[in-house]
This record gives sequence, C-alpha cells and structure tokens, in this order.
Amino acid sequence: MTSIADLRKSYERAELDESASHSDPLQQFDQWLQEAIASEVPEPNAMTVATVASNLRPSTRVVLIKGYDAQGITWYSNYESRKGQELAGNPFAALQFHWVELERVVRIEGVVERVSAEESDAYFHTRPLDSRIGAWASPQSQVIAGRSVLVANAAKYGARFLLQPPRPPHWGGYRLKPDRWEFWQGRKSRLHDRLRYTLAADGQWVRERLAP
Ligand SMILES: Cc1cc2nc3c(=O)[nH]c(=O)nc-3n(C[C@H](O)[C@H](O)[C@H](O)COP(=O)(O)O)c2cc1C
Repeated sequence: MTSIADLRKSYERAELDESASHSDPLQQFDQWLQEAIASEVPEPNAMTVATVASNLRPSTRVVLIKGYDAQGITWYSNYESRKGQELAGNPFAALQFHWVELERVVRIEGVVERVSAEESDAYFHTRPLDSRIGAWASPQSQVIAGRSVLVANAAKYGARFLLQPPRPPHWGGYRLKPDRWEFWQGRKSRLHDRLRYTLAADGQWVRERLAP
C-alpha cells in the first residue's frame, strides 16, 4: 500500500508569466475559469468559502459561483446557515478554486455583502422547482432529528407553494468584493508560479510574484 507521504506529482502542464498574464485580475480569472470549463474539469464552478466566527475560529465549505464582474464574486446560500451567521458578524472572507487537472489554484480575499433582494429574487426564480422547494425545506446548518424532517418539510412546502414558491427571506446571494487575488500555477521541482494582485489606495492593481 502506498504511504500518503509518498504521494507526489510533478506539475508540468503550463506556466504563468507576468508578460502573458492580464494586468486586471478579473480578466485573468475569467480566462482561467473559461479554460477550466472548456477543459471539462469536474465542477469547475465549485469554490471553497472561508469565513471566521466571532471567536476567531475559521471554517470552510464548498459553494457554486453564480456570477463574477467588477462588483465581485457571487454565490447563493442560506443567510441563517453557519456561514451566514459568521458573515453577519465578520464580513471578511476568502475564496479558493482548485482546478486539479489544470494544476491551478485561485485565491480571492475581500469583504462580503448580500446582493439586493431583486437580484436574489431573479436568480431564485431561475432555479429548478425542487431546488426552490429545497431552500424552504432545509434549515441549513441546524441539527435535525433525521432525514425524514427534510422529506416532510419538502412535502409541506411543495403542497403550500405548488409551482410558485417565493424566495425564502432567509435565502439569497452574497457578493465578495476582492481586494486581493492570487493565481497559482504548478511547475516542475516545486518552483511554482504565484502572481498576487493587491488593490492599492489609488484603485490600481499591484501585481507581484510570490515565492512558491
Ligand atoms: C460542489 C458543491 C456545491 C455546493 N454549492 C452550495 C451552494 O451554492 N450554496 C450553499 O449554500 N451550499 C452549497 N453546498 C453545500 C455546502 O458545502 C455546505 O454544506 C452548506 O452550505 C452548509 O455550510 P455551513 O454550515 O458552513 O453554512 C455545496 C456543496 C458542494 C459539495
């Protein structure tokens, strides 16, 4: 049996060069995400969200990115979930994408705010019906007595709302406005490429190379 300590991989697929990367990190992210989608990596839109509770304990979970533009990176969740409660107390968060097959990681940090009710409504109504009912049926992150609670809740809300469930008031979007990005490209001999973009006081992005 292989010891996990002996599991190693040499990263040789690509490089990330100052001259060949965008000066705007959003454009660099757009390029890498589109390449991840085109490469058919599994769940290219899955990202880890890290939040910090009021007792300073960090926690992470995976969510799906639903939009990105100059305003920030958007995802949807339950505002009363653990992440929702932590973000209510501390809006700083960090995101991470790991596209394993492309030997790439993107790290993003910034402040999170809720998207507008109108924006959450618009997205909610694009979701499949079972997902819309699911948003009502799941008291996300709360202890429940068993799976039957979810099944009963789904039946209850399905019967109540039929084909037209409204957006639950406790469900909606978050948007992280980045002030720091890092793009990591695996390279040979652990001499990886790392480019960090930091938002300066004048609103310009400062790009610097970090040691791997
Ligand atoms: C691939 C993947 C995508 C997910 N997408 C979401 C999502 O978009 N929103 C969400 O609230 N939870 C999503 N989840 C579930 C979360 O990882 C997590 O279990 C849930 O949000 C509760 O986290 P919390 O208790 O830390 O708040 C996803 C899980 C996986 C594995």
